[in-house]
Amino acid sequence: ASVSTMAMRRILPTDLVERGRCPFDPPPGLRGQGAIRPVDLLNGARAWLVTGFDEARTVLSDARFSADKLRHHDATSPRPPGPAGQETAERADGIFVFMDPPEHTRLRRPLTGQFTVRRMRRLEARVREIAVEHIEAMRAAGPEADLVPAFALPLPSLVICELLGVDYADRAEFQERTAVALDASATAEEQGAARAGLYAFMGRLVALKRAEPADDLLSGLVHDTDPPLTDRQLTDVALGLLNAGHETTANMLSLSTFALLEHPDRLAELRADPGLIEGAVEELLRYLSIIQLGVSRVTTEPVTLGGVELPAGATVVIATPEANRDPRQWSDPDVLDLRRPRVPHLAFGHGVHQCLGQQLARIELRIGLGELISRLPGLRLAVPAGQVPVRDEMLIFGVRSLPVTWS
Ligand code: HEM
Repeated sequence: ASVSTMAMRRILPTDLVERGRCPFDPPPGLRGQGAIRPVDLLNGARAWLVTGFDEARTVLSDARFSADKLRHHDATSPRPPGPAGQETAERADGIFVFMDPPEHTRLRRPLTGQFTVRRMRRLEARVREIAVEHIEAMRAAGPEADLVPAFALPLPSLVICELLGVDYADRAEFQERTAVALDASATAEEQGAARAGLYAFMGRLVALKRAEPADDLLSGLVHDTDPPLTDRQLTDVALGLLNAGHETTANMLSLSTFALLEHPDRLAELRADPGLIEGAVEELLRYLSIIQLGVSRVTTEPVTLGGVELPAGATVVIATPEANRDPRQWSDPDVLDLRRPRVPHLAFGHGVHQCLGQQLARIELRIGLGELISRLPGLRLAVPAGQVPVRDEMLIFGVRSLPVTWS
């Protein structure tokens, strides 16, 4: 299973996972315990949890903390360490989020070169069209909808289709397979089949872009990269963008809406002054920190971090929701404040692996939330807040459904 769909409860102690009274606050077990501490995992292994902002930044910018989780076994991985040498056989060719420089740099650099300002600007117009189309469809069928399937899931999925240049005729297949691959209630076989289908789909897409280049990111990667990437690398990179950009953005869209509806004063502020949206998105990213315990590294040698001695081979897990509430970095960190002075946060990570799609994610959130708010006056929950099912057991936090209504 991919990291993103992995259920955390099988490995992490319940108190680090279970949300308390307020679903937007970090799990009580993560709170107020010093910047770094050891935790015993349910699989018998030990890991170190980093809840301090500065300490987390150190981990993410120091080469002694490796992202190569096949070479250096990560204790939170669902699989036990294999025999020596196995990692090279299993290694995916283009999944650079699990690579260190210089291998990582070789794959990331050409991709960075494809996320151009011009392409992002053009995508922005399409993001708006896709958002408006889906909101208008909701209105036509309304005045009630589940925002997750009606809006939050299809928007980022279609944006990735735009980015990769997926034909309109193939989009239904693409969306159906991505939906099953992300569906926590699907069986392991169903998810496996959907993932295999997506891999084949991306393979065909790479072959198509090789034969008939168009003005999209994937064609650019196929034809403009020197030295050229192999088809397998290209397929992995394309699938990696889907894995990294779909479930994250979808959960951010629905959870942000939920959070705004539960903070009516903030929502009113935003309605009154749409110019606040950029700051609001940044604050929601910090406040919600949906990648809960999903960023981790393994030490390549003994390291002292925040006064704690870590052995070589130690798994270090960044507790992003808590690190992004560090009172040394923000005053009143538990308050959702859309007008907060801008300082760096960790929602997109930090260092060489910092989110490659953050510009695009910000565009989707700004436009998606902005259009929702302006086109659905009187937007509110259709059920009591306590009945909104949260997915606290997943590495990516969010809601399974968000029943809403409007006037
Ligand atoms: C990496 C968060 C949306 C593509 C990351 C990392 C974080 C993150 C925390 C660092 C992982 C690590 O250091 O181990 C998010 C959030 C998003 C989002 C919260 C939505 C709100 C996107 C989108 C795309 C994308 C839309 C692309 C379409 C990537 C890629 C990486 C990455 C390719 C790996 C970068 C590398 O390893 O060098 N993201 N992401 N992400 N993200 Fe995002």
